[in-house]
Amino acid sequence: MNKNIVLIGFMGTGKSSVGSRLAQRLKREFVDMDREIERVSNMTVAEIFRKHGEVRFRSEEQLMAKKLSQRSNLVIATGGGVVLSSENVDHLKRNGILVCLDASPEDIFARVSRKKGIRPLLKKGTTEEDIRLMLEEREPYYRCADIRVNTSEKDVDAVVNDLLQQLKNIL
Ligand code: S3P
Repeated sequence: MNKNIVLIGFMGTGKSSVGSRLAQRLKREFVDMDREIERVSNMTVAEIFRKHGEVRFRSEEQLMAKKLSQRSNLVIATGGGVVLSSENVDHLKRNGILVCLDASPEDIFARVSRKKGIRPLLKKGTTEEDIRLMLEEREPYYRCADIRVNTSEKDVDAVVNDLLQQLKNIL
């Protein structure tokens, strides 16, 4: 039974695009946690935040982390805040290798600015400096990763190649 490969990391570090490409390369099923939460709750993540608040989203996220950790051989892209709960980290680690995707605040800012309005934690006027501060706050949580891969100035294929190289020593 193969452990899951679980992509963690800040918003805009490429977890979904890298995850889906990695799954193709490894011929594994790909699960995007946020999309799965949206499917089961029949609401977008933005709607869950707006109608029911962040606490409700975190509880849906926790249920999903638990559910997915009972499966194996998956590539899972998580939402950027999944690691804020140590319970989630414990679940995901039990049957998974945690891979953190990193990027510079500049790159993250550029990437998230292209997709405005879909991330409830990034309000309209969010600046690059806000992102730098949020990254700093989140950094201790991302240290739970088994592997870290820098995605700045790299395309998806280059990130996947880098990741596969590092996974070789573990898988
Ligand atoms: C969040 C990141 C989002 C989504 C939610 C909360 C966070 O996912 O789960 O808006 O707390 O960092 P992405 O990392 O895919 O943007």
